[in-house]
Amino acid sequence: MKRFFALSCLLLFSLSVTASADPIIIKFSHVVAAATPKGKAAEFFAKRAAELTKNKVKVEVYPNSALYKDKEELEALQLGSVQMLAPSLAKFGPLGVKEFEVFDFPFIFDDATDLHKITQGPIGASLLAKLDAKGIVGLSFWDNGFKSFSANTPIKTPADLKGKKMRIQSSKVLEEEMRSVGAMPQVMAFSEVYQALSTGVVDGTENPISNLYTQKMHEVQKYLTLTNHGYLGYAVIVNKKFWEGLPADVRGQLEQAMKESTVYANKIAQEENDTSLEEVKKSGKTVVYVPTKEERMAFKKAMAPVHTKMADRVGADLLKSIYKETGFDPSKL
Ligand code: LMR
Repeated sequence: MKRFFALSCLLLFSLSVTASADPIIIKFSHVVAAATPKGKAAEFFAKRAAELTKNKVKVEVYPNSALYKDKEELEALQLGSVQMLAPSLAKFGPLGVKEFEVFDFPFIFDDATDLHKITQGPIGASLLAKLDAKGIVGLSFWDNGFKSFSANTPIKTPADLKGKKMRIQSSKVLEEEMRSVGAMPQVMAFSEVYQALSTGVVDGTENPISNLYTQKMHEVQKYLTLTNHGYLGYAVIVNKKFWEGLPADVRGQLEQAMKESTVYANKIAQEENDTSLEEVKKSGKTVVYVPTKEERMAFKKAMAPVHTKMADRVGADLLKSIYKETGFDPSKL
């Protein structure tokens, strides 16, 4: 009886230790609204991480630059103040991984099928591996979508962008893209764009529609042209020391949660952008223009020189390997 009592006490004690063990916290910081492809995918990951690890891991998602702005969040990740981010691929230059700017080349991907050949294939995997040397593990690519131009005057031809101050993400390729049409690029943190557009600090910008709509940029931009001239997507990244310090079983469960979140993210991205476009149209605040095939070709031609000018920045071989997969050939324009 005594022995049974002692055993029961031991069991109760060990159960309470397991139940009260503090969860491992993953702070996941990002700059867009919760109701965007990235925001929703981050929440999905948090949910699956809790389920698969049986609450051993708690992912805290901080949207809308609540913790850090673009540049600061990368520094915070390297310092270990946050554990996980999903910056857009245009924002890896300051980390010294310029190759990610290959995704910014204008018109390089025709559609998501083209894009996924890269992000879900060996080229994508080798790009993620480049982060290792920076103390970062690249886990996955998540889609947002293709960008469109907006401004307060109509944009139908490349000449319509001439002289305009256009907000861009911190990418040299995007800088060159804007210069190719005579616009003046202005790098600015995402959290500052709405204000800059509403006060006239910049005249226009480029966004996937989900970002434009959820930041209410359509309320301060009278014209939107669905150029789909370039891609905006994300790499989900973690602090390497943190990641490698996790118990192997937990890391495996988180890898599974990430796999499922990637399927989810890439499934909802187009739907989210479509819904946002409907909302922008419904708002009546922005004239939405669909360029003709010829008008879109004029943008393609005007921006083609960016491919030659910026090849060395990302590496000519990398660029060629992508052309080979997608069939894009700027010299044929
Ligand atoms: C931007 O700065 O425009 C985007 O990178 C924001 C984001 O994370 O989608």
